[in-house]
Amino acid sequence: MIVIRSCRGQDELEACVQLQVETWGYDPTDVIPRKAFLVWQKVGGQVIGAFATEVAGSAPHGGPESLVGFVLSLPGIKAGGREPRAYLHSHMMAVKEGYRNCGLGMQLKLAQRKEALERGIRLIEWTFDPLEIKNAFLNIRKLGAIARSYFVDFYGVSSSRLQGGLPTDRLLAEWRLDSAHVSAVLSGRANGESANTLEIEERIVVPAAIYEWKSTEAGREQALEVQLRNREKFQRAFSQGLAVLAFVRDAQGNGIFELGQLSQLEQSPQGT
Ligand SMILES: CC(C)(COP(=O)(O)OP(=O)(O)OC[C@H]1O[C@@H](n2cnc3c(N)ncnc32)[C@H](O)[C@@H]1OP(=O)(O)O)[C@@H](O)C(=O)NCCC(=O)NCCS
Repeated sequence: MIVIRSCRGQDELEACVQLQVETWGYDPTDVIPRKAFLVWQKVGGQVIGAFATEVAGSAPHGGPESLVGFVLSLPGIKAGGREPRAYLHSHMMAVKEGYRNCGLGMQLKLAQRKEALERGIRLIEWTFDPLEIKNAFLNIRKLGAIARSYFVDFYGVSSSRLQGGLPTDRLLAEWRLDSAHVSAVLSGRANGESANTLEIEERIVVPAAIYEWKSTEAGREQALEVQLRNREKFQRAFSQGLAVLAFVRDAQGNGIFELGQLSQLEQSPQGT
């Protein structure tokens, strides 16, 4: 039994910090501390947890002992339009090993979206490693985010064990919460796959072996080669005005970003 809700109190926030360390293996200089979780939650961000209430000693609605996932976002402001607009930057999401691939990541993102829309916030952004096929699948294919910005070595050096010592290159996911495209993807009417309905002008492939290459000393050079090759392709495509519209996995588990003109996706809010 899983309960998804906002985290409450210092102990639940501390449980998020512990899950962060367990997930990324950060050294103390990289860890986001409990106080930052607290402040971001206080100033309009989100700390939403997934609680496995079957865990021994858990309260019926979960507690620090039963936290098995969280998503953290902080408030942001977009300037430049007629008026500044509030949005959320989702900084971290983690699901405990053993609870992954059961839909908890998806549930956390949906809870994030629901809570944001209830407050009138219509955009959530986050960065993700374009070499992480699973994350790209979740972000583009299952949630309907798009991407059109590439950051080279965004965080600088990272102690994250998931980074494999590579530069921290990131794509920016833009999740337009009430757009027709996101609604269609979430309702299953579209699936974030091109499915012959979109004109795809560029495909960028991430080999399934990337996970193995990133995690071993011997594979590191190959992983870096893929990163550098794909970096160039993303940068070229984005400079030509293309965006990541869809993402597919082939039978071998390779991930394929599909890029085309963003104008093909209906980005306007539902019903307008
Ligand atoms: C990213 C993360 C939070 C996702 O949580 P999760 O609960 O496993 O996610 P879900 O089960 O909702 O969705 C994952 C989807 O990816 C699919 N998937 C799993 N492995 C995959 C792979 N190698 N390639 C492509 N897709 C994959 C799953 O099958 C699932 O899709 P489905 O529901 O259609 O079957 C979790 O894997 C995690 O904590 N990873 C480490 C930290 C991290 O990378 N965080 C994100 C960046 S901040």
